[in-house]
Amino acid sequence: MRHEFIGQEPTADLVAVLLDRHRRIHDLLDRIQSGGRAIPRRFDDLVRLFAAHEYAEHRVAHPAARSAGIPGHVVDHLMAEENDLERALAALCALGADDPRFHLDFGEFAAAAGLHCAREEQEEFVWLGSLPAADRRELGRSLLTAESLAPTRPHPLARRSGLARWTVAPVAALWDRLVDTMRRDRSRLP
Ligand SMILES: [Fe+2]
Ligand SMILES: [Fe+2]
Repeated sequence: MRHEFIGQEPTADLVAVLLDRHRRIHDLLDRIQSGGRAIPRRFDDLVRLFAAHEYAEHRVAHPAARSAGIPGHVVDHLMAEENDLERALAALCALGADDPRFHLDFGEFAAAAGLHCAREEQEEFVWLGSLPAADRRELGRSLLTAESLAPTRPHPLARRSGLARWTVAPVAALWDRLVDTMRRDRSRLP
């Protein structure tokens, strides 16, 4: 299923797409916190956007970051934050946007999500931006494919279960092929 928030991209550059998703996440976090009748609909948009974005980062951006030479502990820390955020988002889904406790819990989630995005931009996207433009475009296309295959709800346990292997198999195959291509291309360099 293709997510409705994923339209025609002006560019498939990996970093441009990632920054665009962060901008959309920030926008929805702000709109939900500002209140109003549209909160349930906007929260639903946020859940689908966030689930697809983190899934695509998990499948494409983080492996690319490791290949680009980012220290493993930096990527590990970002992935641990994502697991915490997905658990928090799943709890908010279970609570429901009309629960009196939603606004307070959502505020904590929004603060943590904002920090996570800022950390990624400073510690990971800067490195990814130094990859050759052709690699960034190919990775950007892989990212869009991963988004289109992503689950529509946060499901932290899926990553640790057999289900994960089934749901990510097409993207994993794509990633393996991409890494092979990149290795082959680099081996041709003088
Ligand atoms: Fe992330
Ligand atoms: Fe992100």
